[in-house]
Formats: sequence, C-alpha cells, structure tokens
Amino acid sequence: MLPRLAKSSLIQQVRGVSAIANAEPSGPSIQTSIPGPRSKELKQEMDKVHQTTSVRFHVDYEKSFGNYVVDADGNTLLDVYTQISSLPLGYNHPDLVKVASSPQLITSLVSRPALGSFPRTDFADGISHALTSIAPKGLKAVQTMLCGTSANENAIKTAFIWYQAQRRGGLGPDALHLESCMTQQKPGTPNLSVMGFEGAFHGRSLCMLSVTRSKPIHKVDIPAFDWPIAKFPRYKYPLAQNSAYNKKQDQECLADVEAKIAEWKRRDNDVAAIIVEPIQAEGGDHYGSPAFFQGLRDVAAKHGIVFIVDEVQTGGGATGDVWAHDHWNLSSPPDIVTFSKKLLTGGYFYGEHLRVKEAYRIYNTWMGDPTKLLLLEKAVEVIKRDGLIEQSRSVGAEFQKRLGELQASSGGKLDQARGRGTFAAVDFPSGSLRDKFVDLAISNGLHCGGCGDKSLRFRPSLVYTKKHLDLTFDLLDKTLKQL
Ligand SMILES: Cc1ncc(COP(=O)(O)O)c(C=O)c1O
Repeated sequence: MLPRLAKSSLIQQVRGVSAIANAEPSGPSIQTSIPGPRSKELKQEMDKVHQTTSVRFHVDYEKSFGNYVVDADGNTLLDVYTQISSLPLGYNHPDLVKVASSPQLITSLVSRPALGSFPRTDFADGISHALTSIAPKGLKAVQTMLCGTSANENAIKTAFIWYQAQRRGGLGPDALHLESCMTQQKPGTPNLSVMGFEGAFHGRSLCMLSVTRSKPIHKVDIPAFDWPIAKFPRYKYPLAQNSAYNKKQDQECLADVEAKIAEWKRRDNDVAAIIVEPIQAEGGDHYGSPAFFQGLRDVAAKHGIVFIVDEVQTGGGATGDVWAHDHWNLSSPPDIVTFSKKLLTGGYFYGEHLRVKEAYRIYNTWMGDPTKLLLLEKAVEVIKRDGLIEQSRSVGAEFQKRLGELQASSGGKLDQARGRGTFAAVDFPSGSLRDKFVDLAISNGLHCGGCGDKSLRFRPSLVYTKKHLDLTFDLLDKTLKQL
C-alpha cells in the first residue's frame, strides 16, 4: 500500500515526478556495470510480486530523453532498441509530454471509455487525425485494439467471418449455424485454417501461437491448431551479388504456399487467411522481395484467401515509409494491415468488403485506448512537420552503408548485413557470440538487441540523426574489437 503523505510532501513528490528530462545528453555515460546495484535491488523487489525472468534492467523514465535511455543506476545509453522498436519519437518528446497534460488526455485516462459501446464525442475525429491520415493505400476502414497480438487475433477473426459469409452467399449466420457453434460442431464451428510462415512472429496468445514460429520457447507445451506452415525466403546478402539464388528462394517459397493451400483444401481445412510480416523481425530480420510478396498477394486473391500483412514491427516509418509493404508495388492492396508498437495504439486497417455487420463479433471492453490515439495524432503531426520519414530514409541509407563497411572490416565476425531505412540487422557466427556482443555494447553505452538465433537488430526511433549514427558506429567498432 502507498504510504499516506502530508499535503506538502505529496506536492514535492508530484514535483519530483514531473521533473521530466527535456534535453538530450551529448553521449552515453556509464557509472556501473549493467544491470547495476540499484537495478538488481529493484529486480529482487519486483520478483516478490511479479515474474522477472526477462527483466534486463530498470529504467528511470523521467531522466530518459530523445535517443538516450537512463537506467536506475544513472547509466545513460544511446538506445537503438527503443522499447523493442516501439518509441516513434524517442523518450519524453516535448510535444507528446505537452499532449499528455491536455484535458482530453487526462479525461480519457481517468474515465477510460469502453470504446465499442460508449466512445468519446471526439473519437471519430481522433481516428481521422491519427490514423486515416496515414492509412495504407486502398484501405480506409480501421479498428483500434490494445496491442499487436489483439490486432492480429481480431484480423484473423474478421477473415474467418468474411470467409464463412462468402460460403453462405454473403449472408450472416442462420439458426443452424448459431445453434451448432454452441456445441462446437459444423456448420457453426467450421474447419478453417490460417497460413503462417517458418520463422514468423505474430504474438504469443493461444491463437497467434499457431502462426508464430520464431522460437520454440514461445510455443512449447501449448496446444496448436493444425494450420499450414509455409516456407519464407532466406536470402543471401549482398542481394545484388546473390540474385539468382534469391530468385530461386522466392520461387520455391511460392510453390510451397500453393502446394499447402491445395493440401489443406484436400483435408477439408481451407486456408481462409494468410498472415505475413514484411520483414520477419523477431525471427531474425528475414526479408521477402517485392516479387515474393506480389506473388503471395496474387495467390491469395486467386484462391479467395484474406491477405493479412502484419506491420506491427515494421509500420511507423523506420523502413523509410510509414508502411513497409508500400515498397512492394502490389497488384491490389492487402485485405488487412495490422499495426501497434511505433503507432502507439494497436489496430488494423481493412478493406470495406470485410466490414463485420453484426454487433459484438469483434468486441472487447476497451477496444483500444483514446489516450494512445491522442499521442499518435501528435506524433503523426511531428513526423510530418519535422520530415522524420525522409530523415529515416536518408539516415537509413547511410546506416546500411556503414553496416556493410563494419561487416567488411570485422574479420569474419559479422555477416549478412541487411536492412531498410534504419531498420537493420547483421549476423554473428553464433547466438552466444551475439549475446556476448550485446552485453559488451551495453557496457560501452549502446543499447541494442538481438533477434532470431544469431542476429543483432537495430531499431532506433525516428528522431535518430546522423550524429547518433556516427556515435553508434564508433561504439559498434569499439565493441567488436573487444569481442
Ligand atoms: C510482427 C509482430 N506481430 C505481432 C507482435 C505482437 O505485438 P504485441 O507484443 O504488441 O502484442 C509483435 C511483437 O513483437 C511483432 O513483432
């Protein structure tokens, strides 16, 4: 329980908390090993009441600013990991801090709406300013949700609902469907499947684990649906020097997709949706080419399958466009695009044909969070005002060049440098060497993170500039020499 405070000390405490950093440090500064003594103490405290198995270090969020995260021991790190790729404007951006003290945000926070039933009077406005203005080409309708996983879950439900309505000639469920679903029998509970890919990550909920295949530890002991797992390209880099090999990858993967759609049809378990990441991020930053995705989009359209693009990690500008799938030049837009992370609210855009007609089929208490929408509205304004997408494109081009040079000078320690914009990765010979590198980099003042078996990933926010890039590569170089 919180201790009761005298009025004066309460004001002091509020003042203390409201002292939010408002300037970026000139560079990292390291006082202790990381995690330091205070972080360790806090972890022990936390462990009494909460699981801590994945906690790296505790953060002083009031002191963190811009591209710099400050830990509980006062260590200041240049952060190119940014809360697992989820801060669009770094820490405590002054424009967002200002919005956070607006009456709309305060009332949305204190009197949180159940959006599906009692939305705020300004909700439609918030949607159009925050989300419609950045909608993927061809998709206007949007549904907010709580996080990436819940966005994907509801996108898949939307696909199933549409698929079954198509089978009924566009009609909603009849009495037989409604009755049979209560005992989980056909036709109300159909056999339908979702195609995912080897190495994919779409979340850790029960349903999403059936399309998530990045790491066994996420899936082990959890029952899964009998859904097809298709091959996803594994390219060799640099792309230009491996084009024949990479093209063959595309062809093999698309053939596998076609074969598995046919196989699941034979098993009376139609593929109703395909869900795919533009870049398999958690799984190790694996890319697909525009040709692969064009092929995939066309296969989905040919079979009447809902094509879902999961932009939870790629959406928001780091690849040099708001949406990574913008780079593909598709024959028709995806049917659904899901998002979260850098876009602050979870949710999905969808084609009008997928709109669900009956109430409560896509529903939960909160269905999103207007506070996040208010922050996103401002973040979008700042991104446009400050040209941050263009910046991530130009800084990103330099990032890719420097990463290639670092690899070339690494004496074989680095391989497969790859990326788009500031969304980038490079491989180590083994996972243990990668993990050692991450720890060393942190001790040198650079907070980066791993993904997949042996990849190091970079996920700076959109306020990452050339000066941060120069510092990043100085620190990478220094760390590599210590490895
Ligand atoms: C591509 C992708 N989809 C879905 C998710 C799950 O999102 P969340 O953790 O917000 O539920 C993630 C999270 O890393 C992701 O990278």
